[in-house]
Amino acid sequence: MSNSVAIAATAAPVSGPGTVIVIGVTSAIARALAGEFAKHGHDLIVASRDIEETNAIATDLSVRHNVKVISKYFEAEIFGTHATFVDECIRDANGSLDGVVIGFGFMDEQSVAEAKFEVARRTIDVNVTATISVCEKFATQFETTRRGFIIGISSVAGDRGRQTNYIYGASKAAMTTYLQGLRNRLFKSGVHVLTVKPGFVDTKMTFGLPLPGPLVATPEAAARAIYNANEAKKNTAYVPWFWRYIMLIIGSIPEFQFKKMKL
Ligand SMILES: NC(=O)c1ccc[n+]([C@@H]2O[C@H](COP(=O)([O-])OP(=O)(O)OC[C@H]3O[C@@H](n4cnc5c(N)ncnc54)[C@H](OP(=O)(O)O)[C@@H]3O)[C@@H](O)[C@H]2O)c1
Repeated sequence: MSNSVAIAATAAPVSGPGTVIVIGVTSAIARALAGEFAKHGHDLIVASRDIEETNAIATDLSVRHNVKVISKYFEAEIFGTHATFVDECIRDANGSLDGVVIGFGFMDEQSVAEAKFEVARRTIDVNVTATISVCEKFATQFETTRRGFIIGISSVAGDRGRQTNYIYGASKAAMTTYLQGLRNRLFKSGVHVLTVKPGFVDTKMTFGLPLPGPLVATPEAAARAIYNANEAKKNTAYVPWFWRYIMLIIGSIPEFQFKKMKL
């Protein structure tokens, strides 16, 4: 499905940084991150499977930050559309492509994913297969131009399999390993790959879950941390930072004990 709308900036074009593509921009984290890039003068291509909402986000970002924003339709599970989507993004960036953000992701309750194979498969299809499908295409482009960055939003859930979240966790472990290999491949081309591992962020994905308040970040705080980590060319960013130490502790529990625990 080709469906793109260009929203012009309200004043003179912003010179400076190039275009950043944010895929899955209806995600609260991705939307806030798009805002961070726009705030720093980047033009944007934003995409999601809800084109009306994407158009509204594009208009808001364009007016608020005085940058050019193009909106596009993107459905992660229809893999056959990805090549055209990526080609159109590269064409519309018009030689100014700086980087891409993989902001889409899917999680259902663990009990639902256990009972319904189609839910388990969607978790893998969206978080792993679609990520690989899209990133491989952008990686080839970035290798040719010898510049660019890829930000993938994985999760701390991929660091250790837990009975309460292991199907989603398995998808994020695969995503983390995929991004690690991609970073290793693209390093020699001067292309940076950032793996983001959020803990708890207050979004519609976590809405209604019994989360420990002090450990929950806002999407805006998460976006600032991700932007700064990318600027600093960090390889992996735990968001907020203290999750690195929480996961260090969780990761150090011996398996013979861990298998008896419920976390
Ligand atoms: N929130 C947290 O605590 C947390 C923690 C760790 C990692 N993460 C990761 O952070 C990323 C962003 O999530 P979020 O927390 O901001 O949640 P969110 O608001 O629920 O965002 C998820 C995004 O993925 C999109 N999506 C899902 N299935 C799709 C499909 N088949 N095709 C296209 N887009 C699809 C959603 O589109 P629709 O709006 O159309 O549904 C939405 O834009 C995800 O990868 C998530 O796993 C979140």
